[in-house]
Amino acid sequence: MAVKGLFITFEGPEGAGKTTQLKMLRQYLSGLGLECVVTREPGGTPIAEQLRELVKHHSGVEPVFAETELLLFVASRAQHVRFLIEPAVARGAVVLCDRFADSTTAYQGYARQLDMDFIRSLNKYAIGNCTPDMTILLDLPPEDGFKRTATRTETAGRHDRIEAEAINFHHLVRQGFLEIARNEPQRVKVVSALAAAEDIHHQIVELIKNAFGPL
Ligand SMILES: Nc1ncnc2c1ncn2[C@@H]1O[C@H](COP(=O)(O)OP(=O)(O)OP(=O)(O)O)[C@@H](O)[C@H]1O
Ligand SMILES: [Mg+2]
Repeated sequence: MAVKGLFITFEGPEGAGKTTQLKMLRQYLSGLGLECVVTREPGGTPIAEQLRELVKHHSGVEPVFAETELLLFVASRAQHVRFLIEPAVARGAVVLCDRFADSTTAYQGYARQLDMDFIRSLNKYAIGNCTPDMTILLDLPPEDGFKRTATRTETAGRHDRIEAEAINFHHLVRQGFLEIARNEPQRVKVVSALAAAEDIHHQIVELIKNAFGPL
């Protein structure tokens, strides 16, 4: 492999196919004999997964305020980067992460409209030098994403707190992701999520080969 380790993140709205593509890429990379670490945000370590539960499925007795949500996501990221991602990349693994810092920028920044400069500082604080080598942004209209998740068997139509936001919120999320990609075209590659899963997988493999050479 041309580089020591790689950190690749998958971003995009609900139902875009992030988890599906991440699994297909893991299979492909493992088939090449590479160590592949698959993880997700929020979560990825025991402590970070506890923070995930707090922020996504709270009891309903007490609301989670937007500011609290932002800090919990970033706290989970700080833990995840140090305990799992950095050590794995350092030993030469390919780390595939289902959502990362761009989700915070898109959801809490563009959609919830919290202070963007503050979010940038927080993300930097949590991430340090652990910037993704490549981010795959799977793009699709939110309506199409929800059609997919409504029929998905694992969660059986169960929506978490953020998924349950109004459709306008999810349009802002999508626009936010696309703006991130416009601002950082070198890192963020936009792939239409409307194609067949196999086609998307091949596009992603090509993007990775073009960027990093033969693996
Ligand atoms: N390219 C595709 N075309 C049609 N359906 C797809 C495609 N990719 C995934 N799906 C289906 O859409 C649903 C959502 O896919 P997936 O769970 O991978 O999305 P996700 O981006 O991880 O969603 P979430 O943000 O909710 O975790 C699943 O039922 C999956 O089988
Ligand atoms: Mg998923």
